[in-house]
Amino acid sequence: MTNVAVIGTQWGDEGKGKVVDLYAEKAHVIVRFQGGNNAGHTLVVRGEKTILHLIPSGILHNNKICIIGNGVVIDPGVLIREIDQLKARGVLPADTKLFISDRAHVIMPYHKSIDTERESRLANKIGTTGRGIGPCYEDKISRQGIRICDLLDKEVFRERLMSNLEEKNFYLTRRFDADPLDGEQIFSEYLSYAEYLKPFVADTSLIIAEEARKGKKILFEGAQGTHLDIDHGTYPYVTSSNTTVGNACCGAGVGPGMLNNVIGICKAYTTRVGEGPFPTELSDDIGRYLQETGQEVGTTTGRKRRCGWLDVVLVNHAIRTSGITGLAITKLDVLTGLERIKICVGYRTPSGEILDAVPANMKVLLACEPVYETSDGWSEPINQARSLEELPKNARRYIERIEVLTGVPLVLVSVGAGREETIVLKNPFGG
Ligand code: GDP
Ligand code: IMO
Ligand code: MG
Repeated sequence: MTNVAVIGTQWGDEGKGKVVDLYAEKAHVIVRFQGGNNAGHTLVVRGEKTILHLIPSGILHNNKICIIGNGVVIDPGVLIREIDQLKARGVLPADTKLFISDRAHVIMPYHKSIDTERESRLANKIGTTGRGIGPCYEDKISRQGIRICDLLDKEVFRERLMSNLEEKNFYLTRRFDADPLDGEQIFSEYLSYAEYLKPFVADTSLIIAEEARKGKKILFEGAQGTHLDIDHGTYPYVTSSNTTVGNACCGAGVGPGMLNNVIGICKAYTTRVGEGPFPTELSDDIGRYLQETGQEVGTTTGRKRRCGWLDVVLVNHAIRTSGITGLAITKLDVLTGLERIKICVGYRTPSGEILDAVPANMKVLLACEPVYETSDGWSEPINQARSLEELPKNARRYIERIEVLTGVPLVLVSVGAGREETIVLKNPFGG
């Protein structure tokens, strides 16, 4: 049986949500395996926009199982609001089930306070989303975390909360001069969340295994992007989880044999929200054109995304670290109207050396100049194209060049935000 993982190849916001929504039609189980509500995945179905932060992007389809895996960090208030909003809009199909892993870690109010207090004082800011993601993962690794199963056990929850709070309040008040947090208030607030979420909680690794045994197809939905990966990204300007495909195993509780096809989502240009090096960033009219035409505004924080040319060095790094088997090019329509289009194919160091891999040292990366290939653009709108033949010659050449430079076959080209605005080249589940 073929299963599929969807991974961002850049710095997030590549259009993973759109592609997962599209592929969900062919899958039965859709699993988020890392990150939290730092993610913002946008689906546009019949002209109606849905933004998901925690719920898997298969949720709008009938008769699916959507899973928030153990590797996700969950802000329960945000999750409940997300469920309620979908219900209120009447878009949550009655026969689609949502499950939350009992092993997922819970984002607590002190995680959010520490995240924002730290960021406001850092000289070299990371530009986090302020959602408490990093501090929650820190507690997970230092074995101080509170998991969903702990939240459901009143005694365990009280004990862990109060002991954590002693340390967190010391840190917040002494290090940041911030107000201490009230344990009883958090306790009762989070108990009400536990009550609401209880029916959704399960050992989700067991559910995935059972569905796989029945021959059902599993779709793993990555959040963020390869260059925000804690190991393989532009450290320290990264998020606090592994965003590459290996974490689909750890964060969902499956073995690597279950991941057959890995689809890398690659925007036709590059964007980044937050701080950190960005070799192909454009601060000129073209950068503004991409930002405005692509409506490049952060889905979670509303910050303007930084924009630049496509960087194949980044994409090849993603292909290697996740074993990507197929590429989905998104937002090709945004390049319409540009006279000339560039692709970065290497980095030139100050000593003239050409690098074809991303250096680990950010000082080295910052000093690099992109080496570009330039091609002619196109002016015809392409949103209506449903086959490669319907694309203007130069648009076709551009994506064919990406295929050559990466050595990975294209499986999809997205030409608009809508589910139907897509050129599907291959079914990643086979058949
Ligand atoms: P994700 O985090 O990877 O799921 O991506 P986001 O949803 O944060 O950002 C992608 C944005 O681009 C969303 O507003 C999508 O609706 C939009 N989008 C996705 N694919 C296309 C496309 O092919 N063309 C255009 N114009 N917009 C797209
Ligand atoms: P999706 O899934 C783009 C960025 C933040 C910041 C850095 C660390 O929608 O692609 P964090 O709050 O995670 O500690 O912030 O990571 N970031 C994202 N950028 N898309 C995302 O998710 C992101 N999630 C985190 O802007 O630079
Ligand atoms: Mg996003």
